[in-house]
Order: sequence, then C-alpha cells, then structure tokens
Amino acid sequence: MAELTVFVPKPPDQFIQESLRQNLFWLRIMKEHALFIRLGLPCDEEALRLEAQQLENEFAQLLEEARKIAKNPTKDAVAALNREAINLTTAIIDFKSRVLQLIICCIITTGFNLPLLIDHIRREAIFFRAALARLQEGLTVGPVEELIQEELFWLRIMADHSKFIAHLLDPSERKFFNTALDFSEQFDSLRLHARDFESMLVPQTFENSLLDDTAKPCVRPGAFGQGLPEPFSIGTLERFTKDALETTTDLRDFKETAAELINNCRILSIISPTLADHVLREAERAIEDITMLSKQLPSPCKFLPGLKDKSKNTDPIEE
Ligand SMILES: [Fe+2]
Ligand SMILES: [Fe+2]
Repeated sequence: MAELTVFVPKPPDQFIQESLRQNLFWLRIMKEHALFIRLGLPCDEEALRLEAQQLENEFAQLLEEARKIAKNPTKDAVAALNREAINLTTAIIDFKSRVLQLIICCIITTGFNLPLLIDHIRREAIFFRAALARLQEGLTVGPVEELIQEELFWLRIMADHSKFIAHLLDPSERKFFNTALDFSEQFDSLRLHARDFESMLVPQTFENSLLDDTAKPCVRPGAFGQGLPEPFSIGTLERFTKDALETTTDLRDFKETAAELINNCRILSIISPTLADHVLREAERAIEDITMLSKQLPSPCKFLPGLKDKSKNTDPIEE
C-alpha cells in the first residue's frame, strides 16, 4: 500500500548524488544571498554588513569543500558536508530573519533590500535545509506530493523574480517592465492552480499543512489525514506540469536576454550582473527539478482498490 511519507533511507549512491546536487547548487546561491543583503543594506549598518560578509566567506569555503568532496565522494564525507551545510544554512536563515524583522518593523528604513526579497531568499534557504534534512534522515515523499510541493515552491520563486526584475528595472524600460509584470501574473496564476491540485490530489498534505506536526511521527500523517484518499495523479496534472515548464522556459529565456543586456550595459536597471545570473540559474534549476519529478509520476487515475469501493458507498444516488 502506498504511504504518504515514510522513513526509507535512499540507496548510498543516490544519497551521495542527490546530496551533492543540492549542495553544489544551493551553497553558491546562499553565498550570493549574503552578498546581495550586504550590498542592499544602508552603509551605516556596519555590524550587519560585517555579519553578511562573514556568512559569504563561510559559504564560499563550504562550497570549495563540497567541490573537493564531489571529486571523490564517500557516504561519510557527504553526510558530514550535509551536517555542516544544515548548520550554516540555519545561521543564514537566522540572519535573514533578523534583517527582515528590522526592515518590516521600520527600524531599517533605507538601503534597497525589498522585504519580499529577504523573505524570498529565506524561503530558498529553508527549502535547501529541508532538502538536506530529508536526505540525512532518509525521509522520502510520495511522487505526487513531492511534485506539487516543488511546483508550489518554484512557481512562487519565479513569480517573485518577475516582480523583482520589474521593480529593479529603470522605469524608462517600459517594454521589459511590462514583460516582467506579465510573467508575474502568469506565475501567480500557475501557483494558485497548483494549490488546487494540492487539495484535490494530496488532501492528506493539505490537512497536514493546517495542523501542528511537531511530534515528528515515524509515519506521517499519523492521526492526521486519516480517512482522506491516498495521493494520486491525473492527466490534467501532467498537462499543467507541461504548461508550467513551458512558462518557466520562457522566463528563463527572458532572463538570459536580460543578463546579456546587463553584462553589455545595454539596459538601464539596478540589477547587478551577479543577480541576473543568479535568477537565471534558479530558473534552470526549477526546470531541472520539476522535469526530474514529473518523470516519477504514477499513471493518471491509478486508484488504490479501496478508494473505488469507498467512492461507490458514498454515492448519494445509489443510497
Ligand atoms: Fe536566490
Ligand atoms: Fe530566487
């Protein structure tokens, strides 16, 4: 019987491969987040700027370590790397939280760190830490739930990027500004659609998101979600995923064009070449993650035997 979430350790080679895939991508991203925060802070916030610089240095060092380990990886070395990455990511999550609070409580009132940008990069850090924690604890998630979770995460990230590009472009760049806003609307709409799939196809996850799950049972959802159908896929989710990938590819191409223009000083904005490249890499990663998970989807409407029986019993016409 398919379970929503169980602790099943990944085979050692998969554990190593997936851990390295996560670390090599996200450690560089985290290093750049520290840089973006530092550059966006007011110049009189010396202590925070120093803290950001220290985090940037520590992520740079850990990234180097990850690159060395990747040349000749062992399970123990990778597990130790994951532990270090979880600890350092926890430190940057804490830092981002403090900076966000200072900004949204209007203690820091200058600089150009948009609150949603800090929230966005904290979400990315939380996502990375959760991915590593799942690997360390051998926690696997069912394919439908995992795909929808990834889509919800990445579609929101892509919508945010579109908004950030629009807000950081010079107002004179009307054509690019309008294109960026159009992408923002498309991704907001896709994300709402993915939310609908969440409650339709993985109602146990939906219920879990409403309840405190801090007890960390060995088998989630435990008492939560009982009586709700097991996750399943439908043809429409496959169609939706294809649409989401196509829109993300369009945004990726737009970001690539923008990055080239920024690098060649042919567009007016306050987007740095590093930030342009950063959001381009994240679009490529979104395509990679969603494509990978879409290949693991079960066949559409492959119901568990018990589900059909239950639906018959609850048919009001038959009663
Ligand atoms: Fe990022
Ligand atoms: Fe991002």
